[in-house]
Amino acid sequence: MKRVALLGATGSIGRQAIEVIDAHPGLELVAASSGTTPIDGLAPLTQTGGDPTELLERAQPDIVLNAVVGFAGLAPTMWALERGVRLALANKESLVAAGELALEARRRGGGDLIPVDSEHSALFQCAQLGEPESLVLTASGGPFRGRTRDDLQNVTPDEALAHPTWNMGPKITIDSATLANKGLEIIEAHFLFRVPYDRIEVVVHPTSIVHGLVRFRDGAAIAHLGYPDMRVPISYALTYPERAETPVPPLDLQTLEFHRPDTDTFRLLALAREAGEQGGTYPCAYNAANEVAVQAFLDERIGFLDIAAAVEDAIARVDGSPARDLDDLVDADRRARELVPLPA
Ligand SMILES: NC(=O)c1ccc[n+]([C@@H]2O[C@H](COP(=O)([O-])OP(=O)(O)OC[C@H]3O[C@@H](n4cnc5c(N)ncnc54)[C@H](OP(=O)(O)O)[C@@H]3O)[C@@H](O)[C@H]2O)c1
Repeated sequence: MKRVALLGATGSIGRQAIEVIDAHPGLELVAASSGTTPIDGLAPLTQTGGDPTELLERAQPDIVLNAVVGFAGLAPTMWALERGVRLALANKESLVAAGELALEARRRGGGDLIPVDSEHSALFQCAQLGEPESLVLTASGGPFRGRTRDDLQNVTPDEALAHPTWNMGPKITIDSATLANKGLEIIEAHFLFRVPYDRIEVVVHPTSIVHGLVRFRDGAAIAHLGYPDMRVPISYALTYPERAETPVPPLDLQTLEFHRPDTDTFRLLALAREAGEQGGTYPCAYNAANEVAVQAFLDERIGFLDIAAAVEDAIARVDGSPARDLDDLVDADRRARELVPLPA
């Protein structure tokens, strides 16, 4: 029996994780957390708000599923990595922000870091077959695929929240509309697979059937296919190296389309790659500025195109020097948030 602590239990990933855990006799939900939604009785140990590592200390789980949204997921990510407790990681923001610090913690802890992000779960599975030479991340393109900057001037939060293939929480849904999500995923892939940025490619694939593809040095390329359903990567991360049954139907083959992403319209994709290449705390700053700008867009304080402009402005003004420890990282996150230009 594996004892699971689920952080972010009330969210889109959290709710699907509960379904996966309930259906698997070898998994037990021992602790659950949320940000503000009450969750009494959901698990033997629960916590709403506060520092989720206090819950982890009490629960001492075998697996931490981090499905918190945003930089708030950093502390539990580091807690699990440092202690060698398996980390099933949906909270990509923590790995993007912490980067090398997270990898050092993982080396010390020696535990598993299994991605829950569907693309990275796919790449992780393909990479079981050999050392990746290069990676391909697929992007659905979001609700605004094919639109020009002019078309996007006046789009509303509701339009941006209408994702064509995935049903997710609001922050990642906006990130999918701006392609910041794919930008964060480039950085996430760099740290998970230790592949340089110039060997991580993004292609737009509207139906989200191919989740990722790994190329090997012998010319072979292995892709991972399946219907877009997060219960598959959640289940894989919790049961690895086994594969458990899920209710997801077997894949019917269909025509697959791929296009190049439009990085002029969707600036946040290019900006994430630049932040990753600059290294240090630039990815942390990119993530922080993006979180603030996305919230301002959802609150209708800025327009859709202003999200990228605000992030670009903020990261041009941070110093970006590497973090020596978590305090440095928290500082870099805070400073970047303060530099996001927002209307008064
Ligand atoms: N949804 C997907 O399909 C998907 C796919 C790939 C990756 N991810 C990643 O998974 C993570 C979660 O995404 P989601 O779509 O599930 O988000 P979501 O639906 O917005 O859920 C977020 C969860 O985090 C909790 N939370 C928010 N702020 C918190 C804080 N300060 N401290 C502790 N908990 C907090 C929320 O609790 P309350 O309900 O109390 O606010 C909620 O349980 C994100 O990093 C996202 O990028 C999601």
